[in-house]
Amino acid sequence: LNTKEAYRSLLLQLKALVSEETSLIANLSNLTAAIKELLGYLWVGFYIVEDQELVLGPFQGPVACTRIAFGKGVCGTAWKDGNTLAVPNVHDFPGHIACSALSQSEIVVPVFIKGEVFAVLDVDSQELNAFGPEEIEFFEKVAGLITSYLDADKWKRHSF
Ligand code: SME
Repeated sequence: LNTKEAYRSLLLQLKALVSEETSLIANLSNLTAAIKELLGYLWVGFYIVEDQELVLGPFQGPVACTRIAFGKGVCGTAWKDGNTLAVPNVHDFPGHIACSALSQSEIVVPVFIKGEVFAVLDVDSQELNAFGPEEIEFFEKVAGLITSYLDADKWKRHSF
């Protein structure tokens, strides 16, 4: 299997994992677990937009910072720009928020709902330059999968 085929098959597995469940939290949680277990990254998780801030959501990996302001760090920048941000070396990114000293590279992909950023998917690697074009395409498809369920109102968002 080449990388492209491996990612295509993994995406199908992720889709199967969330297609029967309607809880947003349950689905985001299982997505982070599957990605972390299968691809072996340091940290995989979501930050969800809440009251003009990103607030830590379902994740797998070391304890992380809980709130990130608009435009701050890699996550806040990706949110502000509404674009994927792949950082080959986090030590070279001005304002990078180091949740773990082991993190070397990072990708953040916005997740949209009805055209607005609803959350970001953040993945950290212990290796430099871990996120190339194929990884970017894969994680954008994961975000797109979430958007398709949310836009179709198939997943329930909690109101505690
Ligand atoms: N490094 C991120 C903060 C989140 S942790 O990596 C989990 C950032 O700069 O936004």
